[in-house]
Amino acid sequence: MVAVLPGDGIGPEVTAQAVKVLEAAAAREGLTVRCRHLPVGGAAIEETGEPLPDEVLRACRQVDAVLLGAVGGPRWDGLPAERRPESGLLALRQGLGLWANLRPVKLYPALAGASPLRGDLVARGVDIMVVRELSGGLYYGKPSGRWADGSGYLAVDTMWYQSRQIERVARLAFDLAAGRTGRLTSVDKANVLSTSRLWRETVENLRAEYPGVAVEHMYVDAAAMEMVLRPWRLDVLVTENTFGDILSDLGGALVGSLGLLPSASLGDEGPGLFEPVHGSAPALAGQDRANPLGAILSAALLLRYCGAGERAVRAALRIEAAVGGVLEAGYRTPDLEETGSRPAGTAGYRVVGTAAMGDLVAEAIREG
Ligand code: NAD
Ligand code: IPM
Ligand code: MN
Repeated sequence: MVAVLPGDGIGPEVTAQAVKVLEAAAAREGLTVRCRHLPVGGAAIEETGEPLPDEVLRACRQVDAVLLGAVGGPRWDGLPAERRPESGLLALRQGLGLWANLRPVKLYPALAGASPLRGDLVARGVDIMVVRELSGGLYYGKPSGRWADGSGYLAVDTMWYQSRQIERVARLAFDLAAGRTGRLTSVDKANVLSTSRLWRETVENLRAEYPGVAVEHMYVDAAAMEMVLRPWRLDVLVTENTFGDILSDLGGALVGSLGLLPSASLGDEGPGLFEPVHGSAPALAGQDRANPLGAILSAALLLRYCGAGERAVRAALRIEAAVGGVLEAGYRTPDLEETGSRPAGTAGYRVVGTAAMGDLVAEAIREG
């Protein structure tokens, strides 16, 4: 059973395509997927007054995996912090005990022209696995809030990390690097932050246990530069919550659109959470213009990581291959057209809407 939480803005549109594709891929492998739709974020606030109703979290704990669209929007921006849609997402991540957020940033060769990088740079490829720590840092540290201080206001957010939080996510990143090209970049701000000095030391202490992995440490400001200048040097990148949030959007830009990036959030046990990296893009909502590929590729990660065995992993591969094929065939959502260097109307280059892109991928799976 999959809990489907469409959320707000473009969330419902892209999630509908992801479900369509998930079902098509599962069917090709003889699997059936049952989905249960539940409200989260602004949609849940409208229904119940809460961004993550207790019964929604309870239901999510009992399924095999959670597929989420996006939350948030201007309608709810004025609410107090704990009642905002975004708090519902943070409570869901925390309530499911998720601590690692995998955000693969991969350039599809067909989209080389959609990347803002120069052709000679993209020709060397972009394939970075961003591993974002998801349980700590500024997102959950207390105190957090705003107080009158006589001169005006004082606002505080708190960043703290325990070495055990750093160690578990670093181990996962080492393991991932060992299965890829063996290079791990740990990103911090150890020249300034205490949490980063603990981060660096904890990662460094694991080095000897992973002789097959070459670890380097990089400050986050330099890492942002490196991602743009020499992205091919990076393989697995592990970093704390806020840095990972920021660098992964930069990764989206590198490969042609934030709308392409999927993510998988995993914990020790229980269901994982699968969601595109992008947000609710309120300006695009309801126009059939959003790119559904980040959500669709999140459904592939769901199949790969939900523990449903080999057939589910094969279904994931089918989705990824179908996405590559549809892009090779020249289909683009408007976001890819805007950054792309090829003019619309070129033979084989067709701009399609959200639902049509979902249909094309599902069709490619049925025929593949
Ligand atoms: P955003 O990711 O929604 O949009 C950033 C930019 O990328 C916009 O120009 C948008 O049009 C574009 N974009 C994003 N997804 C796209 C897609 N699938 N196809 C085409 N273009 C796409 O971020 P934002 O504008 O900073 O935030 C909007 C709202 O989303 C806020 O309420 C924010 O809190 C929320 N948000 C939610 C999540 C989440 O649910 N995981 C993530 C990020 C932001
Ligand atoms: C993301 C989003 C969320 C985050 C927000 C909406 C809470 O930006 O998933 O990247 O910062 O984690
Ligand atoms: Mn983000």
